[in-house]
Amino acid sequence: MIRFEVNGKPVEVEVEPRMTLADCLRHVLRLTGTHVGCEHGVCGACTVIVDGAAVRSCLILAVQAEGATIATVESLAPGDGLSPLQASFRKHHALQCGFCTPGILMTAHALLSEEPEADAARIREVLSGNLCRCTGYIPIIEAVLDAREAYRKGGGR
Ligand code: FES
Ligand code: FES
Repeated sequence: MIRFEVNGKPVEVEVEPRMTLADCLRHVLRLTGTHVGCEHGVCGACTVIVDGAAVRSCLILAVQAEGATIATVESLAPGDGLSPLQASFRKHHALQCGFCTPGILMTAHALLSEEPEADAARIREVLSGNLCRCTGYIPIIEAVLDAREAYRKGGGR
């Protein structure tokens, strides 16, 4: 039995010691916005934010999240609208199939929350651990650049 906070709500879940955080989020808590691609830390699709840091949820065990504060992609949108980052992805056509998008959004959200002045080179560096096979990355970088203004004003969410 472990306890942590996810998207602002305290949760208590019973998990096998070998269950990854990704599987716990998806299969136990039904937060299926977090996607699982490679399952060994390469693709970034499973990225969530744990205690403020972007983390690959396939690489940590659920039991390691005891006491942590976790944010998944489901936490980004206010109500039924889109967050500024999500709206920017739509505006710039920064996704096609969308499988990689939750991980990219969470990586970018963690970056812009800490570094709202990040330039294109910094954004490329940080997103280099998130693989997308559809978009060619240019629209993704443009979307993140365009979303910086909202984070500078403290309204990234
Ligand atoms: S599924 Fe976690 S990095 Fe690919
Ligand atoms: S939008 Fe398809 S893999 Fe990224």
